[in-house]
Amino acid sequence: MENSGPAPTWRFKGNEELTQASAITVRGVLNMLMDNLDPNDTRPVIPLGHGDPSAFPSFRTTLLAEDAVCAAVRSGGFNGYSSTVGIPPARRAVAEYLSKDLPYELSPDDVFLTIGCTQALEVILTVVTRPGANILLPRPGFPYYEARAGFSHLEARHFDLLPEKDWEVDLESVEALSDENTVAIVIINPGNPCGNVYKYEHLKKVAEKARKLGIFVIADEVYDHLTFGSNPFVPMGVFGSIAPVVTVGSISKRWIVPGWRLGWLVTNDPHGVLMKQGIVESIKGYLNITSDPATFMQGAIPQILKNTPNDFHLKIVNVLGESAEICYNRIEDIPCITCPSKPEGSMFVMAKLNLSLLEGINDDLDFCCKLAKEESVIVLPGVAVGLKNWLRITFAIEPSSLDDGLGRIKAFYTRHAKKQ
Ligand SMILES: Cc1ncc(COP(=O)(O)O)c(C=O)c1O
Repeated sequence: MENSGPAPTWRFKGNEELTQASAITVRGVLNMLMDNLDPNDTRPVIPLGHGDPSAFPSFRTTLLAEDAVCAAVRSGGFNGYSSTVGIPPARRAVAEYLSKDLPYELSPDDVFLTIGCTQALEVILTVVTRPGANILLPRPGFPYYEARAGFSHLEARHFDLLPEKDWEVDLESVEALSDENTVAIVIINPGNPCGNVYKYEHLKKVAEKARKLGIFVIADEVYDHLTFGSNPFVPMGVFGSIAPVVTVGSISKRWIVPGWRLGWLVTNDPHGVLMKQGIVESIKGYLNITSDPATFMQGAIPQILKNTPNDFHLKIVNVLGESAEICYNRIEDIPCITCPSKPEGSMFVMAKLNLSLLEGINDDLDFCCKLAKEESVIVLPGVAVGLKNWLRITFAIEPSSLDDGLGRIKAFYTRHAKKQ
């Protein structure tokens, strides 16, 4: 249809704050690196930057989980909307699953089902936002926190994780950073991006610090139980009676199904502080105005959480442990990158880049762009997770591809090594 008359002055435009808040995300940086790949390189691309190994045969989820989803769909019992907090059997199943590792029982009312762990983070970061509030985030960390906080006008303050102390929290800096407007501290354990697993005693100190500061802990345990070193996984909820803990998690990582989008937000708060402070009401309020995980996924979750054979979990942890070992050993053989410690959990390790050993490489981003172009290997530059001139390397990939990828990084180093 032809328009007649002068063009109108359109009164709408995009939200620039949204564009700015999402400027640095892991996916954004990885996409940019993919654009640097050389189309003439016939070798397979080695993806060492992602956190989703679901496409690799060694990381295929358990048949039991696939069957549980099919059965939930076929039952016809989950075709309707769910309640905004999640359907009762699913909330009960998550409460039982998490209570196994806690000194007290969670109630189904402590559990709120979300669209992956991502939505759980969205909920809690929105709930704590009020004018002037700030939140303490780890550096290096997971950039979604900064993006979400930025969009909500929640001030992000960063405390350091200490590479020389197995990436423990610098607790002194936590105290120095906080003030009367600080609301919460975020702990990611097992760690992304560092691959560390915190000891019981350290987590207890974090809880005590939170209590001293009058803030609560947001425990990101999306990599729960993916540990293969000497430290076992200890949920932060163990310390819920010292300071209130909001745990966020999902089946994305332990079951290797990030596409299924089933997560949770759980209050670990034996003294009811979060309830008294109105946080629980706000969580429910926010869930009333947002969307819910697919009802059939909620229908499948009791079966998945209760009946997954332990063999499956053991197999995944063993593959990750072996890959972490290969990764660490191969990195030791590449002079320009060093790992402060062997990864003991999650899917990643941080490696420090020694630029003085390289010719013509400006920084971590430049390293990763040239590596993509010359070797078809994708690695995340540390700047994307808050630590410039480091690299985050994923070992959650088929061991043979990992070996190939690290071999190519070595070849890249040899080609760019500074002549003595
Ligand atoms: C530390 C951390 N938190 C949260 C998430 C989001 O998890 P989900 O895929 O369940 O939304 C991720 C995903 O990579 C993550 O690494």
